[in-house]
Amino acid sequence: MSALTAAAIQTAPIFGDVSGNVARALARVPADCRLAVLPELCTTGYQFASRDEAIALAEPVPAGPACQAFRDFAARRDTTLVAGLAELARDADGRERVFNSAALFRPDGTWAVYRKVHLFLDEKDLFAPGDRGFPVFPACGTTVGLMICFDWLFPEAARTLALAGATLLCHPANLVLPHCPEAMITRCLENRVFAVTANRVGVEHRAREELRFIGLSQIVSPRGERLACCDGVAEGAAVALIDPDATDKQITPRNDVLADRRPQAYRL
Ligand code: ACM
Repeated sequence: MSALTAAAIQTAPIFGDVSGNVARALARVPADCRLAVLPELCTTGYQFASRDEAIALAEPVPAGPACQAFRDFAARRDTTLVAGLAELARDADGRERVFNSAALFRPDGTWAVYRKVHLFLDEKDLFAPGDRGFPVFPACGTTVGLMICFDWLFPEAARTLALAGATLLCHPANLVLPHCPEAMITRCLENRVFAVTANRVGVEHRAREELRFIGLSQIVSPRGERLACCDGVAEGAAVALIDPDATDKQITPRNDVLADRRPQAYRL
C-alpha cells in the first residue's frame, strides 16, 4: 500500500453532551486524512459517577447515534475513523453490560470493535473488562490493532497486536499519568509498528477525585520517532504521513524484534 495521512484528534469533551462532543471532534479531522483516531470515551466524557450513569450514556455498536454519525462521516470523507466510546451490550442472559470500547468505522460502512482489557482505577466499578482479547482488523490498506489508554502499561497488549500482524496501533486515550507518551516510543520500537495515540485535555471532577488529562496526543514511528505531537492543554490534531509498509522487524542486520524472541525463556 502507499503512505497515508493519519491524525490523532485531541479534544476536551463536555461530560454528557454526546452530540456536541461528536460534532466538535469530527470538525477537527483534517480534510485530507485517511485515518483519524479520536480519544477514549470521546462521546460522553470520562468520569461517570456510577455504573447506572454509564449505562444511561452508553450506546450499542454500531446502532447508537454517535456510531451512526461516525459511520456517515467515514463514508462521506473516505476516512477510517477510530473512536473511544461507552458500549452498551447484553450478555448471554440478557443482562446489560458496559464496555470501554474503541470502534473502527471504514469508508465502506463496515466496522469493528475492541473492548478495553486493562481497566484503570475506578473504571473497574463501571465497565466489564474486555472479553475479546486483542484482535487486529484490516483497515486503510493495512492491518490495524486497537488498544485503549492504560493498555500501554502492559507490553503484552502491543506485542500481541504486533504478533498478529498489526503495523499500526490506534490508541484512543484519556491519560492522567505522565508516562505513556514516552512509553509508546518503546512500544513502537520494540514491535516496529506505528502508533497513533489520541488523548484528551481538560479536567473532570464528578466522582471521587479530580482528573486532569495530559493531552500530548502523538504519532510515533516504528523507529521510535515522534512524528507529530499536540501540546498538553489545547484541543487540536497531530498529523503525519505514515507508510505502514515501513515496519520491517529488522532492528540490526542480525536482529528481528519478533523472530528473535525466546518464549521458552520467559516463563509467563
Ligand atoms: C486510562 O486508562 N484512561 C488512564
